[in-house]
Amino acid sequence: MQLSWQRLFELETEFGDSFFILDLEKFASNYQEFLQSFRSIYPHTNLGYSYKTNYIPKLCQTVHSLGGYAEVVSQMEYDLAIAIGVSPSRIIFNGPLKSPEDLENAILAGSIVNLDCLEEVEIVTSLARRLPEQKIAVGLRCNFDVGAGRISRFGFDVEGGALDDVFKEFRELNNCSVLGLHCHISTSTRSVESYKIRTQKIIELTDYYFPNQQPQFIDLGGGFFGRMQDDLKAQFDCHIPSYQEYAEAIAPQLRSRFPDDSAPELIIEPGVAVVADVLKFVAKVVGIKTVRSRQVALVVGSIHNIKPTLTDKKLSLQVYRNGEISHNSKLSGSVDLVGYTCMEHDCLYPDYADEIGIGDYAVFDNLGAYTVVFKPPFIRPNPPIISYDSTLEKYTLVRRKETSQDVFSTYVI
Ligand SMILES: Cc1ncc(COP(=O)(O)O)c(C=O)c1O
Repeated sequence: MQLSWQRLFELETEFGDSFFILDLEKFASNYQEFLQSFRSIYPHTNLGYSYKTNYIPKLCQTVHSLGGYAEVVSQMEYDLAIAIGVSPSRIIFNGPLKSPEDLENAILAGSIVNLDCLEEVEIVTSLARRLPEQKIAVGLRCNFDVGAGRISRFGFDVEGGALDDVFKEFRELNNCSVLGLHCHISTSTRSVESYKIRTQKIIELTDYYFPNQQPQFIDLGGGFFGRMQDDLKAQFDCHIPSYQEYAEAIAPQLRSRFPDDSAPELIIEPGVAVVADVLKFVAKVVGIKTVRSRQVALVVGSIHNIKPTLTDKKLSLQVYRNGEISHNSKLSGSVDLVGYTCMEHDCLYPDYADEIGIGDYAVFDNLGAYTVVFKPPFIRPNPPIISYDSTLEKYTLVRRKETSQDVFSTYVI
């Protein structure tokens, strides 16, 4: 995808003055490389793509076509998986809040449902009592310390005995079983070391809780770093591991514990790792202003488009210059690229240290994770998302521009 000012001008004419560009081919190659890093060591590995990280249906369809699971944490995401043709047995239903109806339907449809809390256990045991002829099988999310520096609220506390209680309760029912164990523990450094520890701990737990029969799966969740440009990498004060480094922290331990063909399936649930670098945001510069010592350039975008989680990192930015602009329409030196909201903190990029002017395009990179799914409907409707097909050398719409009507359609007027 070769961008230039002229190309962006043509895209603006077709799609509007701000839009996302999705690179589906990069997504597919990230997915395959990530999976292959694990499979080359532990062949019985599969990926479950974390829908919440970025649920653009074209991404979810790509995962489906590559044989991955849909990892969902709400009925909304479950419904999307079904709508794009994923069979219930290829859906992993996680998350802290599942309604009794959604939970029961997913279990009965054959999805992998990882329970998170005792209330969910009660829903499952009462279902098992109501349907004594029906085999009910679930996974359990475990909560243990990997040195993350905080106590996670998710899953069953291993140390405090909650996991033990659930196994006891299920053993009392003839038709209820645990298929496997799950954990997802987010840490700020996403370190290789923490993945070594969680793998070792989950193997110890499966040895203890599955003494006679191997579990069907071990699900280690997500939370891995993805690929990023050097300028972004330099802002982290920790090492950014490669796919290979993560695979080497996890897969050999499983390989040596389960060397034969009947090994449990290893499930990994990446979001960031495969999607972070597949989306760019293009915003046209439409205004310039100097206020005392501060220079600002207004773009058709907001911090909510590119950093809705309000990370303090500076994203990779490239400005495509409009060669035609007059001296009066540009600034140079230190310029803050600001957005359309009325919030002072709406600065997409502080201290841009080059020339920038009206008619230029600011292109922000590494925006695949927690952007389009996290943006509030604040002040302006959502911009469109387009995708580039390198075979056809063509851009196509994958989400149209939102209208005012879309935004207000659920209100009573
Ligand atoms: C259960 C579960 N799996 C996978 C993920 C994906 O995490 P990431 O996008 O950091 O890889 C999350 C994110 O919070 C999660 O809660």
